[in-house]
Amino acid sequence: MAYIVAGTANAHKLEEYRELLKDQKVELKSLLDYPHFPGVEENGTTFRENAAKKALATCKYCDVPAFADDSGLEVAALGGRPGVYSARYAATDAERISKLLSELENVSDRSARFVCAIAIAVNGEVIETFEGEIKGRIGFEPKGENGFGYDPIFIPDGYDCSFAELSGEEKNRISHRARAFAKALEFVEDEMSVLDQDF
Ligand code: IMP
Repeated sequence: MAYIVAGTANAHKLEEYRELLKDQKVELKSLLDYPHFPGVEENGTTFRENAAKKALATCKYCDVPAFADDSGLEVAALGGRPGVYSARYAATDAERISKLLSELENVSDRSARFVCAIAIAVNGEVIETFEGEIKGRIGFEPKGENGFGYDPIFIPDGYDCSFAELSGEEKNRISHRARAFAKALEFVEDEMSVLDQDF
């Protein structure tokens, strides 16, 4: 069967990708299958740039088609921060959440959005990048146990609960990652015979 490597070792993201790919005839591998992958410096200034760097490095190292995402949370009242620095905003999920809540203390505009860029690389070249977003607001305290990262404080538009209170399936119906991924999948289905090779 054809396979594609996800340029991530993040188990939460992989779980989301597995769910999104469950009806596809493609086997998903990841950087967990390539433990000696040297890593990529995420020094781009946009989500697309970082996603492209990760997809390209993964494709070159594994010598198979690859995709990678870069994602983060943009908060309007903070001028779009933490944005591409979402992972590096503080050391742990708990610290990231409490730092963000304290930056937003007494701030009434809580609007925010999650953004995800996905890049696909084949034969040592990035062939496309796609972006998805979900708009919402930052809550006043963490709620829920599911998901990862900033999920406990992100309330998607049209909901009264946080991402972390939704099931994985529900989050996957609306998330920034699912939306970017749907565009990527449509492109692969329409355009690509590249994945039909056996490796
Ligand atoms: P990267 O895409 O792995 O560089 O990191 C993105 C960072 O943004 C993660 O470490 C999380 O902190 C945050 N993030 C991205 N997507 C999500 C999500 O779906 N839920 C919660 N946090 C997210």
